[in-house]
Amino acid sequence: MATKPREQWGTRLGFLLAAIGSAIGLGNIWRFPAEAYRNGGGAFLLPYLIALITAGLPLLILEYTIGRRFRKSPPAAFRKLARKAEFLGWWQVLICFVIATYYAVILAWAVRYVGFAFTEKWGDEPDAFLFGDFLQVGDTPGEFGGFVGGVFWPLLAVWVVTLGILALGVRRGIEWANKIFIPTLVVFFLILVVRALTLEGANIGLDAFFTPDWGALRDGNVWVAAYGQIFFSLSIGFGIMITYASYLRRRSDLTGSAFVAGLSNSSFELLAGIGVFATLGFMTASSGVPLDELVSSGLGLAFVAFPTIISTMPAGAFFGVLFFLSLVIAGLSSLISIVQVIISAVMDRTGMSRVQAVVIVGGLTALTSLLLFPRSGGLYFLDASDRFINRYGIALASLIVLIVIGWILRKLGEQQAEADATSAIMLGRWWKFCLAVITPVVLGIMLFDALRQELESNYEDYSTGFLLAAGWGVAAGALVVAVLLSLIPWRRNMDEDLTALHLDKGSK
Ligand code: ALA
Repeated sequence: MATKPREQWGTRLGFLLAAIGSAIGLGNIWRFPAEAYRNGGGAFLLPYLIALITAGLPLLILEYTIGRRFRKSPPAAFRKLARKAEFLGWWQVLICFVIATYYAVILAWAVRYVGFAFTEKWGDEPDAFLFGDFLQVGDTPGEFGGFVGGVFWPLLAVWVVTLGILALGVRRGIEWANKIFIPTLVVFFLILVVRALTLEGANIGLDAFFTPDWGALRDGNVWVAAYGQIFFSLSIGFGIMITYASYLRRRSDLTGSAFVAGLSNSSFELLAGIGVFATLGFMTASSGVPLDELVSSGLGLAFVAFPTIISTMPAGAFFGVLFFLSLVIAGLSSLISIVQVIISAVMDRTGMSRVQAVVIVGGLTALTSLLLFPRSGGLYFLDASDRFINRYGIALASLIVLIVIGWILRKLGEQQAEADATSAIMLGRWWKFCLAVITPVVLGIMLFDALRQELESNYEDYSTGFLLAAGWGVAAGALVVAVLLSLIPWRRNMDEDLTALHLDKGSK
């Protein structure tokens, strides 16, 4: 069978925008501000920065080197590191499958809220509106319940747009979309932040955000939260950056790109924190409700606290539309990257064309998402799978990947050489030390502690049966299916490097 040369990014800027687009997502806008506030306000920034330097950036660089060196999606790339390591790549693909099915649902809510914001449809009780009128959440976790049209149709639209962009390919689809998404997002967000800072009471929110509670630094949970936030937010640990880097040209600067992408993501995150807290300060000043009662979870922040504020502030509808549009754009560019991992893995392993892979596996992912989540019981399934796949998917898989590469295969040196060969910044010994020692130790403690909490009490008081099916079952299922997929003797023998090297000649 004739093999087409691997797709490539058009420009380095195109790759960077796509990597930044993947990183900046729902995690930055609603997860970060709530995490920061719950974990010591200003004091959270210190563990957050340490997590960025010791785990975020080093892992981002490692993923770039794996992707660019082998020019393959995670299963084939890990197979090239060592045959038996292929399952690690499939594990990341399965994690992406699970995340994609529910991440799209939150995006669908945001799409719907763009419409609601025009007329402030949530009325006086955004809380009751979200869970009652809109999501029609049932009483019993574990029961699927009937379909909720208000979520189903926007979800279908999210999937059509995502798969449409993916079908167009790396350069004409993903790169092109991010070139439009990212500048638009920055402009929208700057307008929102400037408006937030000029609201009355903004200083109350900023004080809460930046006043450090130094005692929080002694709390292990704060450190765990900081590392967790960095993994999710930078899109590391689930194969995305390996996949995106596999479309890079041979001579692209890896370490520099990782610094630009990582720092852009964190700057955006801080900006989101400033904007969100200034707005919450306004709410506190105008309603008298203490700020700590306004921030509960990311979900409550975006879909309950914000609608409340939008209804109170001057020209609220305009800023509401802008806020939810920002959420949609940020989420869409991340969802595209998550689904691309699945598509490129199947293309690499079976030799399917992009359009075939988009229709078959993209379609299967969309179908799963559409069958499971837009129902009255969907929120419970979403909540449980999110919690378990983040902990026992992303974090656990990253720990195993680091142990395998750093300690069993001892390949960190080779990967360092791969980065140093084409980068302006040379990686010192600190890089290997962070990946082989600091991050595995922190991840190990994190997971041990998480498991201890899990066994002490059921998450959200859900029944054990429900957690076994929707939480543990999903996380364990991802690993089991990954191992099975790695055992299949694929028709296409990926041990041959079939990339067309001639394309690289003269490229930067
Ligand atoms: N990195 C993406 C986010 O922050 C997944 O939402």
